[in-house]
Amino acid sequence: MLDLFVMSVRGKFITFEGPEGGGKTTHAKRLIARLEAAGRTVVYTREPGGTPTGEAIRDILQHQTTGETISPPAEVLLFAASRAQLVAHVIRPALERGDWVVCDRFADSTVAYQGFGRGFDREQMIAINDFAIGETQPDLTLLLDVPCAEGFERITARHAANHQSLDRIEQEARDFHERVRDGYLELAKRWPQRFRVIDARATEDQVAANIWEWVQRECG
Ligand code: TMP
Repeated sequence: MLDLFVMSVRGKFITFEGPEGGGKTTHAKRLIARLEAAGRTVVYTREPGGTPTGEAIRDILQHQTTGETISPPAEVLLFAASRAQLVAHVIRPALERGDWVVCDRFADSTVAYQGFGRGFDREQMIAINDFAIGETQPDLTLLLDVPCAEGFERITARHAANHQSLDRIEQEARDFHERVRDGYLELAKRWPQRFRVIDARATEDQVAANIWEWVQRECG
């Protein structure tokens, strides 16, 4: 008699990356609505955060809730700790169930912000990421690229509408954010099989259409 094995197919893992003000959260949510309408079960999550531990780390990192200055190496490791927790508790189980995962920032953010932005050794950032995430690498990374001046106009308007101020990392100097943006574009060249660069200056509908086209082509 034949034994029947029912094996669920691993879901797809899509990450949104990019400098500030590129519209990652808006487009992650639009993509999820479209995937769900197409019959997929999708888990949305974000970094830092996405688990109780990760959200506590997010508050420390963005709003310095401990009241203590965060040293740059501690910043790297706190992002990595949040990521390790998110992979173990949310992302890996979801992919193993066959669900799709859409993550608003992931490991590339550490290479872009802490590597290119802060000046830490990029290969060391990649090694720390690998320690945190193991084999759980994205299938597709959508880089929403926007020039810093335009990105900051957008986030300044958004924060004003929500009566919020710039967070700890947004407050970094303009040349920090320029290095982050250039760093992302370098990462896209390093891993062309995974990265797709999308010009986020286009209209929101145009950007959403470009994203949908890439997702269908790469993950369909
Ligand atoms: P956001 O997801 O709301 O944009 O906020 C996350 C902030 O944290 C953003 O300024 C980018 C920064 N960040 C890093 O510096 N390194 C990282 O590894 C991650 C995930 C985010």
